[in-house]
Amino acid sequence: MSDALAAPKGVPEYLPPESAAWLAVREGLSRPAVLAGYGYIELPIFEDTALYVRGVGESTDVVSKEMYTFSDRGDRSLTLRPEGTAGVMRSVIEHRLDRGQLPVKVWYAGPFFRAERPQHGRYRQLQQFGVEAIGSDDPALDAEVIAIADSGYRSLGLTGFRLELTSLGCAECRPPYRERLVAFLDGLDLDEPTRERARINPLRVLDDKRPEVIAQLTDAPLMLDHLCSACAEHFARVRGLLDAQQVAYVVNPRMVRGLDYYTRTTFEFVHDGLGAQSGIGGGGRYDGLMSELGGQELSGIGFGLGLDRTYLACQAEGLQVGPASPLDVYVVPVGAGRERAPLLVAELRAAGLRTDQIFGERGLKGAMKQADRSGAPYVVVLGERDLAAGVAQVKSMHSGEQAAVPLANLTPYLKEQLS
Ligand code: HAM
Repeated sequence: MSDALAAPKGVPEYLPPESAAWLAVREGLSRPAVLAGYGYIELPIFEDTALYVRGVGESTDVVSKEMYTFSDRGDRSLTLRPEGTAGVMRSVIEHRLDRGQLPVKVWYAGPFFRAERPQHGRYRQLQQFGVEAIGSDDPALDAEVIAIADSGYRSLGLTGFRLELTSLGCAECRPPYRERLVAFLDGLDLDEPTRERARINPLRVLDDKRPEVIAQLTDAPLMLDHLCSACAEHFARVRGLLDAQQVAYVVNPRMVRGLDYYTRTTFEFVHDGLGAQSGIGGGGRYDGLMSELGGQELSGIGFGLGLDRTYLACQAEGLQVGPASPLDVYVVPVGAGRERAPLLVAELRAAGLRTDQIFGERGLKGAMKQADRSGAPYVVVLGERDLAAGVAQVKSMHSGEQAAVPLANLTPYLKEQLS
């Protein structure tokens, strides 16, 4: 006997009827971006490996440990996209969008791939909704991007999250800060792997979760205290704009992001109901990324919101997202009603009512049971005698009431009942 086939490890699937809620999460999060004039961009699922090595950073976990990289038949090294920002930059440069009106504002949604150890909320195929706004360093753009994410979460009814915010400085103030941090870390009692990490990316040591390391980091120098005046001014203006728009945040000067391209404003949305994988979204500025990838010296800012984790957050808060039921109407034909049913179903669907019908031979009792299970609030029974009289029986599954409704009047009657 062969083994039963199963989806690969760490790949979530969304099946009906729950998948309707998942789609509603994506729709709810992306709507504020559409309202703010972001255009949809559909990107390749795989790109040249070099794009991520250059764009995301060779020393990041994402690039060094988690990429799904393969050679194609022409022996080119390709990688399933681990994130969206580098691909957007490549596309903007390749199609010269950066030569047109700025900022370029785009949004995307879809699967990304990271070979992480799977656990609740951490998947190997993860889904994100993201935006990127390229070509302006106006703090108003930072505030716009952050507010889009915030209002997306709120539109779903989420309340148990917080926005954490910091500034990671720029090419001018980060290098001297980094030196300061390296000197500080040099004086600590750290094991060899941590020292190695400190050499490659000292900022990441600030994210160490071990108590013996945390205890030594209390007096570590923080980027926020060493911003140049331009970065400090920029950060103050972003905060002021968020305050004015009543977007709540906490400043977290120890935030560490997993990707190397961030500069200046950097943020994360954290939800308390998810356990260890609490980051439901994150983003920030990446003022050197475009030129790093061969484009113009343009700054940019964006975010990626985790759709899987946002969906889990909605569940954790007990929120009903998406339609309460997958159908409006369920049609149960009996006898000669079976001939008429497909026409009626088509008519109801054309009127915008979500309609399904029973297929195959079924006794009335079994058919009504199936109708009940369909979740549709209204069931239309098309019986032979009723048809001859030009009516159908409409049953409300909530109240149990039943009415004979003239066929000619059926669509407006149901629309009225459902409104
Ligand atoms: P990121 O922080 O790596 O940023 O990912 C963004 C979000 O994707 C996370 O906050 C999380 O919700 C979700 N996510 C990441 N990895 C997983 C996983 N293994 N399983 C489930 N969900 C996951 C980026 O990807 C940047 N490209 C965001 C960005 C856009 N920055 C600027 N522009």
